[in-house]
Amino acid sequence: MSVIELRQVSKAFRGVSLLEEVSAEFARGQIHGITGPNGSGKSVLFRLICGFMSPDHGQVLIDPTYQKSPGGYPQHFGIIIDRPGYLAGRTGYENLQRLAEIRGDISSEQIRQAMEAVGLSPDTRQKVRRYSLGMKQKLALAQSFMEHQQVLILDEPFNALDDRSTAQVRELLLTFKAQGRTILLTSHNPEDIRRLCDSVWKIEDRQLKQGALTDLASSATSPIVEKESEV
Ligand SMILES: Nc1ncnc2c1ncn2[C@@H]1O[C@H](COP(=O)(O)OP(=O)(O)OP(=O)(O)O)[C@@H](O)[C@H]1O
Ligand SMILES: [Mg+2]
Repeated sequence: MSVIELRQVSKAFRGVSLLEEVSAEFARGQIHGITGPNGSGKSVLFRLICGFMSPDHGQVLIDPTYQKSPGGYPQHFGIIIDRPGYLAGRTGYENLQRLAEIRGDISSEQIRQAMEAVGLSPDTRQKVRRYSLGMKQKLALAQSFMEHQQVLILDEPFNALDDRSTAQVRELLLTFKAQGRTILLTSHNPEDIRRLCDSVWKIEDRQLKQGALTDLASSATSPIVEKESEV
């Protein structure tokens, strides 16, 4: 069974239609890439999937394994859409610790491992208000998977990351996939999609169209999924 299914989902804002009767299924254990121009509705689609927003028509179905009650918050989802409300006067570690206390109970060692996995030092005393854009992005990534969330909904996960960090996070996502976790991500970089994704979808003319990975730029000369070597 698919982890997420969209059934004829429509969404409009102030009479302007964004998505019209969109249907799609996202299979478990795969990486699914969503592309589309600015303003086409990628972030809105992710908010609908996470239940932060309701469709005007249609249904968003989540595999009950990942959801306590129908329509409720999917507990096993790790999400980056809007940046979490960090406490600017606290360190990155303290912020993650606070989120972990709210949502469940993971050990301090797990928080440290998540930070290290994205190249953040858990021991740095630097407050989040002094974090660079890339560091904030890494903190958002760490919170999305630190509790071993099985479904990751990542809106532009590579935003603001330098080349080395991009390679590191790509490797990490492939490791998560190998563990059987399911990932939906958006990116404006065809290279991210080409290297990571098992399926690619494009929002076009208010529809979500499944595309061929081979249509992506520069895919002609390299295999679709290729492990990064420069980590
Ligand atoms: N809560 C809202 N109320 C009104 N309009 C909204 C709301 N959320 C999004 N929109 C509009 O929906 C459209 C799609 O927005 P969305 O953020 O999903 O685009 P996107 O594909 O993620 O773009 P980008 O590539 O720039 O991130 C935009 O025109 C946006 O202004
Ligand atoms: Mg967006």
